[in-house]
Amino acid sequence: MKPTRVLGFESSCDETGVALVEVAGDAPPRLLAQALHSQIAMHQAYGGVVPELASRDHVRRVLPLAREVLSQAGLTLRDVDLVAYTQGPGLAGALLVGAGVAVSLAAALDLPALPIHHLEGHLLSPFLSADPPEFPFVALLVSGGHTQLMRVDDVGAYEILGETIDDAAGEAFDKSAKLLGLPYPGGPHLARLAEFGNPEAFDLPRPLLHSGKPDFSFAGLKTAVLTQVKKIGDSPCEQTRADLAAATQAAIVDVLVKKSLLALKETGLKRLVVAGGVGANARLREALNAACAKRGVRVHYPELALCTDNGAMIAMAAALRVQRGLAGEGALRRDGGFEVRPRWELGAA
Ligand code: KG4
Ligand code: ZN
Repeated sequence: MKPTRVLGFESSCDETGVALVEVAGDAPPRLLAQALHSQIAMHQAYGGVVPELASRDHVRRVLPLAREVLSQAGLTLRDVDLVAYTQGPGLAGALLVGAGVAVSLAAALDLPALPIHHLEGHLLSPFLSADPPEFPFVALLVSGGHTQLMRVDDVGAYEILGETIDDAAGEAFDKSAKLLGLPYPGGPHLARLAEFGNPEAFDLPRPLLHSGKPDFSFAGLKTAVLTQVKKIGDSPCEQTRADLAAATQAAIVDVLVKKSLLALKETGLKRLVVAGGVGANARLREALNAACAKRGVRVHYPELALCTDNGAMIAMAAALRVQRGLAGEGALRRDGGFEVRPRWELGAA
């Protein structure tokens, strides 16, 4: 059977990602090549993502990255069968760049274009790992903008079990890190500082921990961190900062673990998939591994490099959709037209 080669584009926030995935028959799709440009260094001076700068940088990067991917794979545009792109959610201007390029390319090559939900990309990114999960599973989706627990029965069959009512877990990491004077994006910096801190040195809240539902709230934690930052004053010693970082990380991890266990219990499922940038956090992985091992639950993670935004997860999600017959005519665009969906709930039409 002739394989389908999918060229995928991701540009929803501050990473431009392009990748080529091949799918044939029932065999697991294969990643042929990928390239990524992170805008972190560019946005760092501003302490966060500047949407207009993000869009302009995507414009500069996207085609050179596509050329790089094809050259890595030893292929040309003629070898591509389908173009996939992130349709949302994300920054409108940033999404428009990837979607515009992808759809124009598809129209020029007379190929179909398939829009993909960014969170579906994250959710299915563990299928690119050496130990891919099997359906059904519970997914803990923890990114900079989203924190959700979902029941996943198959590609495209997603049920939200619970989500955050305010900040996302990544936002809690990033905002707390900013309060501690760490650079953007704060999550990995806070995690590094926390390594030599004592998590019990500060007593921080674990919002909604006992709500009995798989829902989250992190805004109160950020306020509690702010109160502690004010208390320790302008020039705290490095150990105090590390202690506060460790306590913040521990509070976030405790909540994520407890709610994941609750979702597993509610659904009776024995498989957990963790996806999104915060899924790279070492303490979260350690705590989830220990809690799940005790309960006979298998945990799957994406490769570390594929936890944060990338093109491979978008091409992979498209390939899995093709494989399951979910990329039929109704789902495809062939007219060179497109729209982006900056706000878009996974599972919504
Ligand atoms: O999934 P992602 O790349 O972007 C969104 O789709 O939002 O996630 C980015 C988030 C940021 O909040 C970042 O600080 C966080 O993931 N993050 C981490 C770690 N690595 C990335 N948070 C905690 N520990 C890490 N090691
Ligand atoms: Zn993301």
